[in-house]
Amino acid sequence: MTSTSTHIYPVIWDQDHVLLIDQNRLPTDYVVVAISRYEDMAEAIKTMIVRGAPAIGIAAAYGMYLGAREIQTSDRDEFLNQLEAVSQELRQTRPTAVNLFWAISRMLKTAYETLGSVDEIKETLLNTAKQINAEDLQTCQDIGNQGLKVLPPEPAKLNILTHCNAGALATAGYGTSLSVVRSAWSQGRLKRLYADETRPRLQGSRLTAWECTQEKIPITIITDSMAAHCMQQGLVDAAIVGADRIAANGDTANKIGTYSVALAAKAHNIPFYVAAPLSTIDFKLADGRQIPIEERDPAEIYKIGDSIFCPAGTDFYNPAFDVTPAALITAIITEHGAVPPSELSQFQAKQVV
Ligand code: MRU
Repeated sequence: MTSTSTHIYPVIWDQDHVLLIDQNRLPTDYVVVAISRYEDMAEAIKTMIVRGAPAIGIAAAYGMYLGAREIQTSDRDEFLNQLEAVSQELRQTRPTAVNLFWAISRMLKTAYETLGSVDEIKETLLNTAKQINAEDLQTCQDIGNQGLKVLPPEPAKLNILTHCNAGALATAGYGTSLSVVRSAWSQGRLKRLYADETRPRLQGSRLTAWECTQEKIPITIITDSMAAHCMQQGLVDAAIVGADRIAANGDTANKIGTYSVALAAKAHNIPFYVAAPLSTIDFKLADGRQIPIEERDPAEIYKIGDSIFCPAGTDFYNPAFDVTPAALITAIITEHGAVPPSELSQFQAKQVV
């Protein structure tokens, strides 16, 4: 592992089970949940105990192993049939982040390609899940280093704005957009991070702020509606966000509200970067119109804790993600380098499938 590493690991394998930091309880409570069955992993992904595109991919990979472990047959074909059923259940958890489907497909491919007994396949599956986890940690560090190379040279110390949480909690550790922020901080290039609170689930104010506070990275939380104003006031030198799925043309699905940030950045001539691993690029989709957008429970809008904020009988629309058109993106920062969206295809051959 190169450079400094944070010690926030949201998904770890511990002897015979997975430990997840319960991200619904942060920042007030730090609670670690033990997961031993794949159905519980599916539920943890759905309910966002674990969230963030790379982290749910890693969680699903371990989920595939946990499901494989429960299968009681030594017949290879029967085992593979039952593993397909496990994969179907895990696929149903969240639709937008492609890392989930990428990791499940990689696990299934491993199962089909492993020769030997069912027990040997199970062992290989555990090793592959661990490998996906370890690779992501290195990938995040590389994204941080690549991001440093493309940040604007002036001013020497940057004010950076981010949306949602694309940090250690959303990955194996270290993060994607927050990886660039961490690298900028460690190299003396960060003045302050502005974090949109990110309605309705508050990943910015709860999670990004929690991570930065751990490491004493200077952070200012604003509500989502303040981002354009801050840009107009000259408070923001660059915006960096993560991604849940990037289409072949660079259109990028990320947390709802990202598109507004990109539009405001364009209007103020501020560079807008997307930081993501190659596993987030879906080269099968020509553009962002085909990206499935998750809709979540309206209660996320009308309730905070036990308090209700809207009159009874109101209608709600709660899309969890939006798509930022490639034309608004200055560069996509990956572990293999940063490119404008129009040059994304050069990474296709490098993608591990
Ligand atoms: O609904 P969430 O919290 O899973 O959404 C997370 C995001 O939108 C992140 O920005 C994205 O997954 C990138 S995480 C490195």
